[in-house]
Amino acid sequence: MKKDFLTLWDMSSGEIAMLVKRAVERKSGIAANKCPLIGKSIGLFFEKASTRTRVSFEVGIYQLGAHPVYLNPNEIQIGRGETISDTAKTLSRYLDAIVIRTFKHNLIEEFALHSSIPVINGLTDLHHPCQALGDLMTITEKKGRLKGIRIAYIGDGNNVANSLIEAASLMEMDLTIACPEGYEPDPDVLDRARGSAKSEIIILREPKEAAGRADVIYTDVWVSMGQERESEERKKRLKDYQINSKLLSCAKKDAVVLHCLPAHRGEEITNDVIDGPQSAVFDQAENRLHVQKALLEMLVT
Ligand code: CP
Ligand code: NVA
Repeated sequence: MKKDFLTLWDMSSGEIAMLVKRAVERKSGIAANKCPLIGKSIGLFFEKASTRTRVSFEVGIYQLGAHPVYLNPNEIQIGRGETISDTAKTLSRYLDAIVIRTFKHNLIEEFALHSSIPVINGLTDLHHPCQALGDLMTITEKKGRLKGIRIAYIGDGNNVANSLIEAASLMEMDLTIACPEGYEPDPDVLDRARGSAKSEIIILREPKEAAGRADVIYTDVWVSMGQERESEERKKRLKDYQINSKLLSCAKKDAVVLHCLPAHRGEEITNDVIDGPQSAVFDQAENRLHVQKALLEMLVT
Protein backbone atom coordinates (compact mmCIF):
# COMPACT_ATOMS: atom_id res chain seq x y z
CA MET A 1 0.00 0.00 0.00
CA LYS A 2 1.23 3.49 -0.78
CA LYS A 3 2.39 5.64 2.11
CA ASP A 4 1.93 9.42 2.13
CA PHE A 5 3.97 11.99 4.05
CA LEU A 6 1.53 14.79 4.81
CA THR A 7 2.54 15.45 8.40
CA LEU A 8 5.25 14.06 10.66
CA TRP A 9 2.63 11.80 12.27
CA ASP A 10 2.70 9.72 9.08
CA MET A 11 6.02 8.32 10.38
CA SER A 12 6.80 6.50 13.58
CA SER A 13 9.72 7.68 15.70
CA GLY A 14 11.57 4.52 14.59
CA GLU A 15 11.05 5.36 10.92
CA ILE A 16 12.23 8.94 11.48
CA ALA A 17 15.37 7.71 13.26
CA MET A 18 16.04 5.34 10.32
CA LEU A 19 15.51 8.15 7.80
CA VAL A 20 17.93 10.45 9.62
CA LYS A 21 20.52 7.65 9.84
CA ARG A 22 20.13 6.91 6.12
CA ALA A 23 20.39 10.63 5.27
CA VAL A 24 23.65 10.91 7.26
CA GLU A 25 25.00 7.86 5.37
CA ARG A 26 23.98 9.40 2.05
CA LYS A 27 25.60 12.72 2.96
CA SER A 28 28.88 11.01 3.91
CA GLY A 29 28.87 9.13 0.60
CA ILE A 30 28.96 5.67 2.20
CA ALA A 31 25.41 4.69 1.23
CA ALA A 32 25.15 1.64 -0.98
CA ASN A 33 22.71 1.68 -3.92
CA LYS A 34 23.15 5.30 -4.91
CA CYS A 35 20.47 5.23 -7.66
CA PRO A 36 17.52 3.17 -6.37
CA LEU A 37 14.92 5.06 -8.43
CA ILE A 38 16.14 4.51 -12.00
CA GLY A 39 13.22 4.69 -14.43
CA LYS A 40 10.86 6.42 -11.98
CA SER A 41 9.22 9.84 -12.42
CA ILE A 42 8.39 12.16 -9.51
CA GLY A 43 6.03 15.16 -9.88
CA LEU A 44 6.60 18.52 -8.20
CA PHE A 45 3.40 20.57 -8.01
CA PHE A 46 4.14 23.97 -6.46
CA GLU A 47 1.50 26.68 -5.91
CA LYS A 48 3.87 28.86 -3.84
CA ALA A 49 7.41 30.13 -4.35
CA SER A 50 10.31 27.91 -3.28
CA THR A 51 14.08 27.89 -3.48
CA ARG A 52 15.22 25.09 -1.14
CA THR A 53 12.33 22.64 -1.43
CA ARG A 54 12.03 22.78 -5.19
CA VAL A 55 15.74 22.65 -5.97
CA SER A 56 16.65 20.06 -3.32
CA PHE A 57 13.86 17.75 -4.52
CA GLU A 58 14.72 18.24 -8.21
CA VAL A 59 18.41 17.61 -7.64
CA GLY A 60 17.76 14.74 -5.21
CA ILE A 61 15.37 13.02 -7.63
CA TYR A 62 17.98 13.28 -10.40
CA GLN A 63 20.72 11.94 -8.08
CA LEU A 64 18.53 8.93 -7.20
CA GLY A 65 18.24 8.10 -10.91
CA ALA A 66 14.64 9.31 -11.37
CA HIS A 67 13.14 12.07 -13.49
CA PRO A 68 11.57 15.19 -11.87
CA VAL A 69 8.45 16.62 -13.58
CA TYR A 70 7.80 20.20 -12.47
CA LEU A 71 4.11 21.14 -12.63
CA ASN A 72 3.18 24.80 -12.53
CA PRO A 73 -0.53 25.15 -11.62
CA ASN A 74 -0.98 27.80 -14.31
CA GLU A 75 0.30 25.47 -17.00
CA ILE A 76 -1.77 22.37 -16.16
CA GLN A 77 -5.54 22.05 -16.31
CA ILE A 78 -6.03 22.37 -12.53
CA GLY A 79 -5.41 26.09 -13.09
CA ARG A 80 -8.45 26.10 -15.42
CA GLY A 81 -10.72 24.31 -12.97
CA GLU A 82 -10.03 20.58 -13.41
CA THR A 83 -10.84 18.96 -10.08
CA ILE A 84 -8.25 17.86 -7.57
CA SER A 85 -9.57 14.29 -7.65
CA ASP A 86 -9.41 14.02 -11.47
CA THR A 87 -5.91 15.51 -11.44
CA ALA A 88 -4.78 13.11 -8.70
CA LYS A 89 -6.21 10.07 -10.49
CA THR A 90 -4.65 11.06 -13.82
CA LEU A 91 -1.20 11.91 -12.47
CA SER A 92 -1.17 8.60 -10.55
CA ARG A 93 -1.17 6.83 -13.94
CA TYR A 94 2.10 8.54 -14.99
CA LEU A 95 4.09 9.34 -11.87
CA ASP A 96 5.58 7.24 -9.06
CA ALA A 97 5.16 9.92 -6.36
CA ILE A 98 4.32 13.63 -6.15
CA VAL A 99 5.56 16.49 -3.97
CA ILE A 100 2.96 19.24 -3.41
CA ARG A 101 3.38 22.78 -2.03
CA THR A 102 0.09 24.57 -1.58
CA PHE A 103 -2.00 26.81 0.68
CA LYS A 104 -4.81 24.86 2.40
CA HIS A 105 -3.76 21.64 4.06
CA ASN A 106 -7.04 19.96 3.08
CA LEU A 107 -6.10 20.26 -0.62
CA ILE A 108 -3.17 17.94 -0.11
CA GLU A 109 -5.34 15.57 1.96
CA GLU A 110 -7.90 15.46 -0.83
CA PHE A 111 -5.17 14.88 -3.41
CA ALA A 112 -3.74 12.01 -1.34
CA LEU A 113 -7.18 10.46 -0.94
CA HIS A 114 -7.66 10.22 -4.70
CA SER A 115 -4.13 9.30 -5.72
CA SER A 116 -2.64 5.82 -5.78
CA ILE A 117 0.95 7.10 -5.49
CA PRO A 118 2.73 8.53 -2.42
CA VAL A 119 2.01 12.23 -1.81
CA ILE A 120 4.70 14.26 -0.04
CA ASN A 121 3.92 17.58 1.65
CA GLY A 122 6.39 20.21 0.45
CA LEU A 123 4.66 22.83 2.70
CA THR A 124 1.09 23.85 3.38
CA ASP A 125 -0.24 26.70 5.51
CA LEU A 126 -0.41 24.20 8.40
CA HIS A 127 2.64 21.92 8.12
CA HIS A 128 6.17 21.70 6.75
CA PRO A 129 7.22 18.12 7.55
CA CYS A 130 10.15 17.89 5.10
CA GLN A 131 11.65 20.92 6.85
CA ALA A 132 11.27 19.17 10.22
CA LEU A 133 13.13 16.12 8.85
CA GLY A 134 16.00 18.39 7.79
CA ASP A 135 15.93 20.04 11.21
CA LEU A 136 16.14 16.66 12.97
CA MET A 137 19.10 15.65 10.81
CA THR A 138 20.86 18.94 11.58
CA ILE A 139 20.27 18.66 15.32
CA THR A 140 21.59 15.08 15.24
CA GLU A 141 24.73 16.22 13.38
CA LYS A 142 25.39 19.16 15.69
CA LYS A 143 24.37 17.67 19.04
CA GLY A 144 24.90 13.93 18.52
CA ARG A 145 21.37 13.00 19.66
CA LEU A 146 17.74 14.12 19.67
CA LYS A 147 16.31 12.74 22.91
CA GLY A 148 16.42 15.30 25.71
CA ILE A 149 17.55 18.21 23.49
CA ARG A 150 15.99 21.52 24.52
CA ILE A 151 14.70 23.67 21.65
CA ALA A 152 13.52 27.27 21.93
CA TYR A 153 11.37 28.48 19.04
CA ILE A 154 10.96 32.27 19.00
CA GLY A 155 8.27 34.04 16.94
CA ASP A 156 5.25 33.09 14.88
CA GLY A 157 3.48 29.80 15.65
CA ASN A 158 3.26 28.90 11.96
CA ASN A 159 3.58 25.80 9.73
CA VAL A 160 7.27 25.38 10.61
CA ALA A 161 6.47 25.63 14.32
CA ASN A 162 3.64 23.08 13.97
CA SER A 163 5.92 20.52 12.34
CA LEU A 164 8.62 21.23 14.92
CA ILE A 165 6.11 20.48 17.69
CA GLU A 166 5.37 17.11 16.09
CA ALA A 167 9.09 16.43 15.68
CA ALA A 168 9.73 17.24 19.35
CA SER A 169 6.87 15.05 20.48
CA LEU A 170 7.94 12.06 18.35
CA MET A 171 11.66 12.30 19.12
CA GLU A 172 11.36 13.18 22.83
CA MET A 173 12.86 16.66 22.66
CA ASP A 174 11.70 19.51 24.93
CA LEU A 175 10.30 22.47 23.02
CA THR A 176 9.48 25.92 24.37
CA ILE A 177 7.76 28.35 22.03
CA ALA A 178 7.75 32.08 22.78
CA CYS A 179 5.10 33.93 20.78
CA PRO A 180 2.70 36.84 21.26
CA GLU A 181 -0.94 36.19 22.13
CA GLY A 182 -2.87 35.25 19.00
CA TYR A 183 0.23 33.87 17.26
CA GLU A 184 0.22 30.44 18.90
CA PRO A 185 0.70 27.22 16.93
CA ASP A 186 -2.33 25.23 15.77
CA PRO A 187 -4.30 24.01 18.84
CA ASP A 188 -5.02 20.55 17.35
CA VAL A 189 -1.34 20.02 16.59
CA LEU A 190 -0.51 21.05 20.16
CA ASP A 191 -3.15 18.80 21.74
CA ARG A 192 -2.09 15.74 19.83
CA ALA A 193 1.59 16.33 20.49
CA ARG A 194 1.05 16.94 24.18
CA GLY A 195 -1.18 13.87 24.41
CA SER A 196 1.53 11.57 23.16
CA ALA A 197 4.69 13.41 24.14
CA LYS A 198 7.28 11.98 26.45
CA SER A 199 8.74 15.48 26.44
CA GLU A 200 7.61 18.96 27.45
CA ILE A 201 5.97 21.33 24.97
CA ILE A 202 5.49 24.76 26.48
CA ILE A 203 4.05 27.98 25.08
CA LEU A 204 4.99 31.22 26.79
CA ARG A 205 5.33 34.92 26.00
CA GLU A 206 8.86 35.89 27.05
CA PRO A 207 11.63 35.07 24.50
CA LYS A 208 14.36 35.16 27.20
CA GLU A 209 12.50 32.61 29.27
CA ALA A 210 12.24 30.28 26.26
CA ALA A 211 15.90 30.75 25.27
CA GLY A 212 17.22 30.01 28.76
CA ARG A 213 19.25 26.76 28.73
CA ALA A 214 18.31 25.97 25.13
CA ASP A 215 20.55 23.69 23.03
CA VAL A 216 18.88 24.90 19.83
CA ILE A 217 17.33 28.29 19.14
CA TYR A 218 15.05 28.45 16.12
CA THR A 219 13.02 31.07 14.30
CA ASP A 220 11.10 31.64 11.06
CA VAL A 221 9.68 34.64 9.20
CA TRP A 222 6.96 36.76 10.76
CA VAL A 223 4.98 36.91 7.50
CA SER A 224 4.47 33.55 5.81
CA MET A 225 3.48 33.06 2.18
CA GLY A 226 -0.18 34.00 1.80
CA GLN A 227 -0.14 36.45 4.76
CA GLU A 228 1.27 39.43 2.87
CA ARG A 229 -1.86 41.53 3.39
CA GLU A 230 -1.43 41.35 7.19
CA SER A 231 2.26 42.16 6.92
CA GLU A 232 2.38 45.47 8.84
CA GLU A 233 0.25 44.24 11.77
CA ARG A 234 2.26 41.00 12.07
CA LYS A 235 5.60 42.84 12.08
CA LYS A 236 4.32 45.16 14.79
CA ARG A 237 3.09 42.32 17.02
CA LEU A 238 6.18 40.16 16.55
CA LYS A 239 8.86 42.86 16.79
CA ASP A 240 10.08 41.75 20.24
CA TYR A 241 10.51 38.16 19.05
CA GLN A 242 13.84 38.57 17.30
CA ILE A 243 16.85 36.29 17.65
CA ASN A 244 19.72 38.70 18.27
CA SER A 245 23.02 38.37 20.13
CA LYS A 246 21.43 39.45 23.42
CA LEU A 247 18.79 36.73 23.22
CA LEU A 248 21.33 34.16 22.03
CA SER A 249 23.45 34.87 25.13
CA CYS A 250 20.57 33.50 27.25
CA ALA A 251 20.89 30.07 25.61
CA LYS A 252 23.61 27.50 26.35
CA LYS A 253 27.10 28.64 25.27
CA ASP A 254 27.20 25.96 22.57
CA ALA A 255 23.61 26.49 21.40
CA VAL A 256 22.99 26.12 17.68
CA VAL A 257 20.91 28.65 15.73
CA LEU A 258 18.45 27.30 13.17
CA HIS A 259 16.21 29.05 10.63
CA CYS A 260 14.36 27.21 7.86
CA LEU A 261 15.07 30.12 5.45
CA PRO A 262 14.28 32.33 3.61
CA ALA A 263 15.24 34.81 6.35
CA HIS A 264 14.10 38.39 6.64
CA ARG A 265 17.35 39.71 8.04
CA GLY A 266 16.81 42.46 10.60
CA GLU A 267 13.30 41.23 11.39
CA GLU A 268 13.14 37.78 13.04
CA ILE A 269 16.95 37.38 13.08
CA THR A 270 19.92 39.75 12.99
CA ASN A 271 22.84 39.51 10.55
CA ASP A 272 25.43 38.92 13.28
CA VAL A 273 23.50 35.88 14.54
CA ILE A 274 22.58 34.28 11.21
CA ASP A 275 26.14 34.78 9.94
CA GLY A 276 27.75 34.04 13.32
CA PRO A 277 29.66 30.99 14.55
CA GLN A 278 26.64 29.37 16.21
CA SER A 279 24.49 29.47 13.08
CA ALA A 280 23.88 26.17 11.28
CA VAL A 281 21.35 27.51 8.81
CA PHE A 282 23.18 26.55 5.61
CA ASP A 283 23.94 23.03 6.89
CA GLN A 284 20.23 22.88 7.70
CA ALA A 285 19.39 23.95 4.13
CA GLU A 286 21.82 21.39 2.68
CA ASN A 287 20.35 18.62 4.81
CA ARG A 288 16.99 19.00 3.09
CA LEU A 289 18.63 17.35 0.06
CA HIS A 290 19.99 14.34 1.95
CA VAL A 291 16.95 13.69 4.11
CA GLN A 292 14.49 14.03 1.21
CA LYS A 293 16.53 11.52 -0.79
CA ALA A 294 16.22 9.11 2.14
CA LEU A 295 12.48 9.87 2.26
CA LEU A 296 11.98 9.18 -1.47
CA GLU A 297 13.99 5.99 -1.16
CA MET A 298 11.70 4.87 1.67
CA LEU A 299 8.39 5.82 0.01
CA VAL A 300 9.00 5.11 -3.66
CA THR A 301 11.00 1.89 -3.83
N1 CP B 1 12.74 26.24 3.92
C1 CP B 1 12.08 26.15 2.75
O1 CP B 1 11.15 25.33 2.59
O2 CP B 1 12.53 27.01 1.81
P1 CP B 1 11.85 27.30 0.39
O3 CP B 1 10.58 28.06 0.65
O4 CP B 1 12.88 28.10 -0.35
O5 CP B 1 11.54 25.98 -0.27
N1 NVA C 1 6.56 29.91 7.32
C1 NVA C 1 7.15 30.12 6.02
C2 NVA C 1 8.10 29.02 5.70
C3 NVA C 1 8.82 29.15 4.40
C4 NVA C 1 9.73 28.00 4.14
C5 NVA C 1 6.06 30.23 4.97
O1 NVA C 1 5.11 29.44 5.01
O2 NVA C 1 6.13 31.11 4.12
